[in-house]
Amino acid sequence: MATIGIDAVAIAVPKGYVELADLAAARGVPPGKYVEGLGVTRMSVARAHEDPVALAANAARRLFATAEIDPGRIGLCVAGTETAVDHSKPVAAYLHRLLGLPERCRVFEAKHACFGGTAGLLAAIDWIASGSARGRQALVVCTDVARYALNSPGEPTQGAGAVAMLISENPRLLALEPGISGSYSKDVNDFWRPLYTKEAVVDGHHSVQCYLDALAGAYEGFKDASREAGYHPDSLVRRCYHVPYGKMAKKAHRHVMQLEGKNEAQADASYVEQVATSLRMPSQVGNIYTGSLYLALTSLLEAEASELEGKRIGLFSYGSGCTAEYFAGRIQAGAGAFVAKLQLAEPLADRRCYTIPEYEAIRHADSDGDRLPLSAEHGYNGSVAFLGVDNERRVYSN
Ligand code: CAA
Repeated sequence: MATIGIDAVAIAVPKGYVELADLAAARGVPPGKYVEGLGVTRMSVARAHEDPVALAANAARRLFATAEIDPGRIGLCVAGTETAVDHSKPVAAYLHRLLGLPERCRVFEAKHACFGGTAGLLAAIDWIASGSARGRQALVVCTDVARYALNSPGEPTQGAGAVAMLISENPRLLALEPGISGSYSKDVNDFWRPLYTKEAVVDGHHSVQCYLDALAGAYEGFKDASREAGYHPDSLVRRCYHVPYGKMAKKAHRHVMQLEGKNEAQADASYVEQVATSLRMPSQVGNIYTGSLYLALTSLLEAEASELEGKRIGLFSYGSGCTAEYFAGRIQAGAGAFVAKLQLAEPLADRRCYTIPEYEAIRHADSDGDRLPLSAEHGYNGSVAFLGVDNERRVYSN
């Protein structure tokens, strides 16, 4: 039987970031609190031109170019986002044109806080497994601009970026294991964003507990399913988590290890071996909500795909509100050589550091960014950018 999973991946990030040490100095906080305490070194900052559609389109275009994918073979395109640009028209509809996808293609947007990308991924896997795909491939793009109020505890856990994934039969990177997963859901008020604001509202410490409770529930379900399938979770050699900030993934892993009966020293050693490499890219980008788990996966692949060929890894997706899923996949033979070709980290090198006054000016301008007057001046030649609004219609450079 053919395997199904993630064939290729690519990321896009805004062209600028803030050093968390600079932000700490401006907020009168010891830099250690943000850098070691939260585990974040830099956070991406999106200008109005770098909206979730532009980030998604740039990630997908990079995916098509680096992995040599024919857009004509895409039969399903899902955009996972919790920072959509319209209450009705989905990000995926813009992508359909910007990417030149076929008219015979199902497109939609999936929202459940940071879980929207995983909802898209699981839908794509089921679409292929059911036979509906008839040989076609699915494009899943996770895209978000994470914003909390300036000067709030959430401010150092912002970020922006997109991760595009091609889902297909006989994937070149990661074969997923449909059916072997654990789900968990509960109506909680940990993090949300009322329709009238672009900034998230969060009950920060409660949200950490909600994440850990959801992880425990989903992991128990995964263990039951994996036992039925005849393997033990000990066969997971690496584990990727949703990463609102790096320290959260460390707390998450410690929690899982406790559930496995390990002591603190064993949990910390296991974190270094199983989790740390997946946090390298997130520590340079910050929270990208729906894409955070897949940025961690990208980071792991970039660092270790060759060594991990044939090995099984665990993945945990959390969406506030809340819903969660623990699932697993096997890194494919040849993934190492393919990853080298994809140049996954390249977009991170092409950025500049904003000063705190520059960052704050970008944020103030961004509060009215959805009414940006149309202008061809954007400074992003060669990539897709939001140009502004013309007669209530959003316009993008192509
Ligand atoms: N040097 C080193 N470490 C320091 C330090 C210093 N000088 N000062 C403090 N620290 C450590 C603290 O000990 C703490 O570490 P532990 O958690 O291991 O104890 C860490 O820095 C953070 O300190 P505080 O808890 O005091 O920080 P805070 O109260 O200001 O805010 C936060 C932390 C609640 C996470 C806040 O940043 C926030 O609300 N973020 C947004 C919400 C969020 O990301 N929640 C995650 C779960 S929900 C989710 O995952 C969905 C999603 O994407 C949003």
